[in-house]
Amino acid sequence: MRYKYENKKRKYRKMKPRVGRIAILVVIMIAIVGLSVFGVKSLMGILNPPKPHPIALYVKDTSLFNEKARNAKEVVLRDFAIGKELPSHKPLPADMKIACLTFDDGPGYESTDYLLGVLKKYDIKATFFVLGSKAEQNPEMLKKIIKAGHEVASHSYDHPDLTKLSPAEVKQQLDRTDEAIRKAGGKTTTLLRPPYGNYSKEIEETVGKDIFLWTVDSNDWRFKGDPQGSADTVLGTVQPQAVILYHDIYNSSVKSAEIVIPKLKEMGYEFVTASKYMELTGEY
Ligand code: NI
Repeated sequence: MRYKYENKKRKYRKMKPRVGRIAILVVIMIAIVGLSVFGVKSLMGILNPPKPHPIALYVKDTSLFNEKARNAKEVVLRDFAIGKELPSHKPLPADMKIACLTFDDGPGYESTDYLLGVLKKYDIKATFFVLGSKAEQNPEMLKKIIKAGHEVASHSYDHPDLTKLSPAEVKQQLDRTDEAIRKAGGKTTTLLRPPYGNYSKEIEETVGKDIFLWTVDSNDWRFKGDPQGSADTVLGTVQPQAVILYHDIYNSSVKSAEIVIPKLKEMGYEFVTASKYMELTGEY
């Protein structure tokens, strides 16, 4: 009995270092495999660096009528390379402050006219995402916008959710708007801001326009009659590269922009149109 026990014990003692050695060997092998994979990867990275890809980042904060979207902070990655070539340019310095003021749903009447005066006073070019239907109702105001040198882009014909329409209906929405802009003396726009910020991959790939959303929502439609409220919203959420969403159909919105513009100037912002913003930020 004693012998057997000792034998067992010996066996156990003998086993222990063997298990230890196997464990060490396994660890070494894992380390070798891991290091070689890492090494090959880093070598590949050095020999074949990833090509800069033209992508712009948009943070879609809110949507007008969708509670879920309103509370979400959805990040939309947009590849501007689809279907077109971009001129190459240097990445934008992180501390460079640019603001793109955009005005949707117009052209309005008195409010748009007032806004044109404000923009002229501060020598700023803004971007108007117009509705074809409004442009047809108010062609003189659209002509005035174009003549003042602002950018005019498409926001559809009469503000439907484009994702609910057939491809033919989407095309009609855009064609009619392009026609209204052209009739007022404008160029056919390559930019589309889909109503409510809603679009699908299919729309993106078939409309032949670049989707241009926003990064700062003034929430001006909620602050009707309270220009300071939406101005505070903009100034409280603005980032170094900002696309600011307003609607030039409300008097309080254009008054809000009038508060915001000199503040942003003080903060060192340069104002750019949507096309310029894309040109500057489209690649990094
Ligand atoms: Ni709209």
